Amino acid sequence: AGANGKAGKTRNIVEKLEESGKNCIIFYGSQTGTAEDYASRLAKEGKSRFGLETMVADLEEFDYDNLDAIPNDKVVMFVLATYGEGEPTDNAVDFYEFVTGEDVSFNEGNDPPLSNLNFVAFGLGNNTYEHYNSMVRNVTKALEKHGAHRIGEAGEGDDGAGTMEEDFLAWKDPMWKALQEKMGLDEREAVYEPIFGIVERETLTKDSPEVYVGEPNKMHLDGTPKGPFNAHNPYIAPIAKSFELFSVKDRNCLHMEVDISGSNLTYQTGDHIAVWPTNPGEEVDRFLNTFGLTDKRHQVISVKALEPTAKVPFPTPTTFDAIVRYHMEICAPVSRQFIATLAAFAPNEESKAEMTKLGGDKDYFHQKVNVHHLNIARILKSVSKGQPWISVPFSALIEGVTKLQPRYYSISSSSLEQPKMISITAVVERQTIPGRDDPFHGVATNYLLALKEKQNGEPNPTPFGLSYEITGPRNRYDGVHVPVHVRHSNFKLPSDPTKPIILIGPGTGVAPFRGFVRERVNQVKNGETVGKTILFFGCRKRTEDFLYDKEWQEAKEVLGDNFELVLAFSRDGPKKVYVQHRLKERSKEINELLEKKAYFYVCGDAANMAREVNTVLAQILSEQRGIPDTKAEEIVKNMRAANQYQEDVWS
Ligand code: FAD
Ligand code: 2AM
Repeated sequence: AGANGKAGKTRNIVEKLEESGKNCIIFYGSQTGTAEDYASRLAKEGKSRFGLETMVADLEEFDYDNLDAIPNDKVVMFVLATYGEGEPTDNAVDFYEFVTGEDVSFNEGNDPPLSNLNFVAFGLGNNTYEHYNSMVRNVTKALEKHGAHRIGEAGEGDDGAGTMEEDFLAWKDPMWKALQEKMGLDEREAVYEPIFGIVERETLTKDSPEVYVGEPNKMHLDGTPKGPFNAHNPYIAPIAKSFELFSVKDRNCLHMEVDISGSNLTYQTGDHIAVWPTNPGEEVDRFLNTFGLTDKRHQVISVKALEPTAKVPFPTPTTFDAIVRYHMEICAPVSRQFIATLAAFAPNEESKAEMTKLGGDKDYFHQKVNVHHLNIARILKSVSKGQPWISVPFSALIEGVTKLQPRYYSISSSSLEQPKMISITAVVERQTIPGRDDPFHGVATNYLLALKEKQNGEPNPTPFGLSYEITGPRNRYDGVHVPVHVRHSNFKLPSDPTKPIILIGPGTGVAPFRGFVRERVNQVKNGETVGKTILFFGCRKRTEDFLYDKEWQEAKEVLGDNFELVLAFSRDGPKKVYVQHRLKERSKEINELLEKKAYFYVCGDAANMAREVNTVLAQILSEQRGIPDTKAEEIVKNMRAANQYQEDVWS
């Protein structure tokens, strides 16, 4: 085992392939689970269609200095998401630095070093970001530079255009063809082979102390959780305070203060907090019912990987209810490929035919499924007209339904003011969907809404809400709690507080700027001098969704003329006014501030707003400085590279 290896676990890829008898390793660089999911799907398909001996691997768990020693009859696949400003995902940082490094040194001394390596690559990106799919592009380039052989095209999926799934499906067929040729693989009739074995444990009940009913790990099961708290181990934080920020009935935006004083968690103004949600009771019931598991929901089961390299994505022994409620993304969009897989288990011929059609026809699928925001249980129920799908092996669900993911929120408090209290500003996702009787509900934000209702003694569910399990597994928490961890970000105030800052944050994009402004207020209270702060905030109407109105007034009292709030109400007047329109009106002043090395920050919607702000800023520079557009755009690019222009955006 390599020097960093955990006891008994090798970090050596070649050794791993050999000891497990595999000829195809699929690495993923994943932040929100999609890349990991695609990697598993490739593994499954490679095995069932082509008899490849596949394994999936987290990039973080191996070393790369012997990539050159992987024999030529094997293939390495990379499924790589690009995160934020063209960065690798957290688990891919070391790999990325190694392969793209200036002086990579491989072990074998081949010339070129990777001349034996066959690889396949797919990237997950978002075209609204400047460094679109830079991970897969840069990794492909680096591997080829060292002589590796790419099989098929390096695929690129685009989340910005909303075509990720279809991009993936369109890429993989020609890739398999190319791989078949290269490795001389025969295609066979795909047969479903379960990856996980399920054993019912008759001697245990859901109350047995060794049974996981939602606890993420052993420490939580034993009731003795301790740090470090991170993406594998959440801190169950008490919620100190929560309230509604909108003054309109049919939409909600929550302010929530999470107390981290009982943990060793720390944060800095501008970081993100991850919330680990729970699925709503209504959807858990629908899911269990769809697969005929309602009566068995509390049956204790052990789940074992039948493949030595597969990992059970939750701790066991556990129950069906706990798996579905705490570990599966059961409300999310469903892949066409998964629908096609499930056709084999349809309760009747008619449903089977419909599933095959949905799986094979992208437009039909879009019109029947995507448009209505259907989740897996809703699709199946509608296809079978309510008949349960009792033949679906539970293993197929573990394999096909993504692992429930934490959601990130831009911290809206200041660590200088409140080092042990983190605040969240979250708009509750609820949409009316044409042709559907009930609205679509976002998982995490409706969970937070339920927590807020519980805390304030409001009825739950409210007319718009859903019912959630909020006292935690085993009713362990009497106050109101939420599982969280902190993710450090590069979105930071200038280290010199006298620097001017320009903040663009419409809607919940204002979250981190509440933290920034409060930080500067505190600096002034501590006797420090701070630079000019201009905040551009936009919302629909002054009387409905104007966030933190009073707080800005209080900030003004401390910061005086050094603080200015510029407002853009989009639905108060005859025509839409957006933050970028207001920015344009201030062209002269913005240019002067930038000449004084002001920092420029944008937070919120990645799809449109952030890009339009970027464009407007370039226009301002071009007009004010009398320079060509291309030159102005280059200046903006350089500002980004120098961290003078920072973005915290999401779609
Ligand atoms: P989800 O259930 O995850 O649904 C989200 C969206 O996915 C839906 O609106 C819908 O478009 C789509 N979707 C889900 N299921 C289906 C389906 N079955 N069919 C079709 N479409 C579907 N949000 C804030 O409010 N405040 C913040 O400060 C904030 N900061 C963020 C910072 C970062 C770095 C990131 C990445 C995101 C941030 N977000 C923030 C967004 C936040 O993480 C969540 O994405 C958001 O709250 C929605 O989560 P949810 O679980 O309620 O909705
Ligand atoms: P709208 O919904 O009335 O179009 C917060 O969501 C605010 O951002 C709202 O006022 C919203 O306006 C506005 N908004 C919507 N699209 C935007 C865009 N492309 N650029 C800037 N603001 C936008």
